[in-house]
Order: sequence, then structure tokens, then C-alpha cells
Amino acid sequence: MTQTPGKLQVDDKAVDLPVRAGTIGPSVVDIGKMYAQTGMFTYDPGFTSTASCESKITYIDGDEGVLLYRGYPIEQLAEHGDFLESCYLLLYGELPTKAQKAEFDYTVTRHTMVHEQMARFFAGFRRDAHPMAVMTGVVGALSAFYHDSTDISDPNQRMVASIRLISKMPTLAAMAYKYTIGQPFVYPKNELDFTSNFLRMCFAVPCEEYKVNPVLSRALDRIFILHADHEQNASTSTVRLAGSSGANPFACIAAGIACLWGPAHGGANEAALKMLAEIGTVDRIPEYVKRAKDKSDPFRLMGFGHRVYKNYDPRAKIMQKTCHEVLSEMGIKDDPLLDVAVELERIALSDEYFIEKKLYPNVDFYSGITLKALGFPVSMFTVLFAVARTVGWISQWKEMIEDPSQRIGRPRQLYTGYDKRDYGPISER
Ligand code: SDX
Repeated sequence: MTQTPGKLQVDDKAVDLPVRAGTIGPSVVDIGKMYAQTGMFTYDPGFTSTASCESKITYIDGDEGVLLYRGYPIEQLAEHGDFLESCYLLLYGELPTKAQKAEFDYTVTRHTMVHEQMARFFAGFRRDAHPMAVMTGVVGALSAFYHDSTDISDPNQRMVASIRLISKMPTLAAMAYKYTIGQPFVYPKNELDFTSNFLRMCFAVPCEEYKVNPVLSRALDRIFILHADHEQNASTSTVRLAGSSGANPFACIAAGIACLWGPAHGGANEAALKMLAEIGTVDRIPEYVKRAKDKSDPFRLMGFGHRVYKNYDPRAKIMQKTCHEVLSEMGIKDDPLLDVAVELERIALSDEYFIEKKLYPNVDFYSGITLKALGFPVSMFTVLFAVARTVGWISQWKEMIEDPSQRIGRPRQLYTGYDKRDYGPISER
């Protein structure tokens, strides 16, 4: 929907810039023709005021703490549905009927195995390699095995690649974990649901039957729902930019994994747990809050703050509830890390600095405690985030490829380097 154009006046140049409104949320000023009309670029490193695309998948209202997947509130999806239902919703745009859900579950389940030769990749890594390093490598390597779903111009191949990625990420993630602990890989079992299958591939050993705890499986499934998509975050933007060149979907998802690994992004769940462990006891919290506020100290409260949420991250509330469920199911009466997290949250939320900068706990603040209680090592936390976010990445990639106005992403710059100068011989330098 086009609104009254905006006007831009720079020196003697005045241009009309079309304004477009979305369904909900901020309108956009379309600056696509601005360089041609003014000879100037816009400048927005970090993209704090820039919409990179049009999308129908996920909506976030940062001031109200709202997160919608295809219009459905995250609280309702997490409460009533399972992860594969949210995958179907993100991919196809509508909640599945009973028959559609059964068919989708069947299809995903039967793509969970990986080519047997992929197992050899793992042997090339050191046993102490970070699982995210392994995942970046092996997911990119999928394009060396599944050539029949790399033609991005073919809608069927795009869908096959999407299903393969959603289905095989848990298998590869479990293999990455097993490899680091020196245990044999466990094959997927078709009789199990997505998340139970993943838990079994991670924690089963050949010497005895592994019984899935339904409470823990439900909790992890809900955690996957919370992490499934989040509009144009850094890793999704990476996937979109990689995909805009026509790169195959497996390579694009590997690029997303690499970006997610950063501690400012998906790596924050690992960093947040390490921070809580470093703080150790409640009495040391003020020292760390002081450091977080000190501009000369690079320390930040990991799991706090967000580019979009200037209110409580709705996922963090659900995560906190899930954390208590898992701790109680595991019979963990008092987890010192949880005590530190709850007290740190209380102190931070009443501190002027955090209030003024609107810094609240984000999805990563309580997830680490929960994942640790589920039995995962800290190094696997971001891998679990990647398992869940794969559906968001591939849904956004598919939306971009299917957008008729899609073209390669190629930002410009403000150049502040040397003007033209001549080369001189080394003898004169
Ligand atoms: C995720 O984008 C997404 O949607 C991401 C994600 C998703 O689902 O994809 O939600 C997942 O990445 C969640 C965020 C996880 N990261 C962390 O928890 C790391 C700690 N948080 C910060 O690094 C930071 O808050 C970011 C990276 C999350 C947001 O950075 P911004 O938007 O660039 O904000 P900023 O760094 O400009 O901070 C604004 C101010 C600064 O102070 P001033 O320079 O204005 O004086 O707030 C301060 C910052 O110093 N600040 C913090 C802080 N976060 C911001 N101070 C202390 N501790 C913090 N955690």
C-alpha cells in the first residue's frame, strides 16, 4: 500500500520518495531510486533503520514484546503446537490440517538419514573441535551429496532441499556431539517424533535401550519453536545475502550457521551460561553489573539486550517457565546458576542504566541453564539454536528466491580512504 511520498531536500536537490505501509508495523521510505536522483547513498551501518526486504513470515513488535509467525503469537504456538507444525507454518504460510501435518511429519522423518559417506567428514576434525566449527563444515558439504536439489530455479528442488535441511540438521548435530565425546553415531529411528529422535541420537549408546523422557522432549520441542525464526536477524540476513547470488541452499545455510556462532547473536546462549558460571554466586552480581555499565569495559551482560526488543523478549518468558519445568523433572532442586540468573535479572531490571537503555533478558538468558539441565554441554547450545533456526533460514531463503523482484544484494559505502595517488618505487618509500 503506497502512502503520501516523503520529501528529501539536499542542497538544491529535492526528491519525492515513495512511502509504503505494511500490514502492521513501521512503514518504509523506498529509497531505491535515491542514488539515481541525488547521486547520494543512505548510510546505516548495522541497519538500525533499514528494511532489507519485504516479508510475510515473521513479525516482531519490539516495544510491545510481540512475536508472530505468519500472524500466530509465539505463546500460542509454543503452548498448543509442536515444532514440526511451526515448521510447516513458516514454510507454507498456513497451519496444517491433520492430514497435511501427518504427511509433513512422515516426509521429514524419512529424510533424517544422511549419506553414509558424510560420516567420514567427522574423522577429519579434532575431537575437541567446537561443534559449531563441525556444523559449518558438514552442512556446507551437503551440497556435495545432494546435487539433485541444488537447482534453485526448480520449485520442487527448492522444496526437497528445504525438507532435507530441516530433517538432516538434527542428525548432523547429534553426530557432531557424539564425535566430540568419542561415542558411536546413533542412527535416526522413524518411530520417534522429531525431537525425541534428536534426543535419542544424542544420548543413546549401543549398550542399552534409550528411553525418551516425554517431559524433556516436549520442553526441547518448545525451545525449538521459540528459536525457529526471527525476521531479518544477522544470520537470516546472511542467508538471504548468500542466496541472492544464486548460491545453493546448503551453502547458504552453512553461511547462516557461521554467522549465528557469534557471541552477539546465537553464541550468546553459550556466553550467557559461561557468564553465570563466572559470576558464580549472588553476592558477586553487583561487581558484574558495574562492569556491564562501564564504557571502558568490553564486558556485557550476555543474554541481555536486543536490537529490536525494547521490552521483555516474549521467548525469554516462555524459556524461563520451561527452565523451571526441566529442572523440576530432572530433580534439580536448587541450581546455583538459576539463583544467579534470577537475582541478576531482578537487579538489572531495577537498575537505571538498564531501564534507560531498555535492556531486558532475551531468548538466550535462560536457555543455557535449561539446555545444561537437559544434558547438553555448553558447546552444543548454539548448535541447538541452529537446528531450530534452519526452518526460519530456509523459509526466508525460499521467500527471497520466489520474489519476482529479487536481485543480488550489493550494498555501497561511504569511502573515507585516500584519493587517487601514484605508485612510487620501493627505493623511494
Ligand atoms: C539473538 O536480531 C535478532 O533477532 C537476534 C535473535 C534471534 O532470534 O535471531 O534474537 C537472537 O542474537 C539475541 C541477542 C543475543 N546477544 C546477547 O545477549 C549479547 C549481549 N547483548 C548485546 O551485545 C546487544 O544487546 C545486542 C547485540 C543484542 C544488540 O546490540 P545493539 O542493538 O547494536 O545495541 P547496542 O550494542 O548499540 O547497545 C545499545 C546500548 C549501548 O550503550 P550506549 O553505547 O548507547 O551507551 O546498550 C548497551 C550498549 O553498551 N548494551 C548493553 C548490553 N546490550 C546493549 N550493556 C550491557 N550489557 C548488554 N547486554
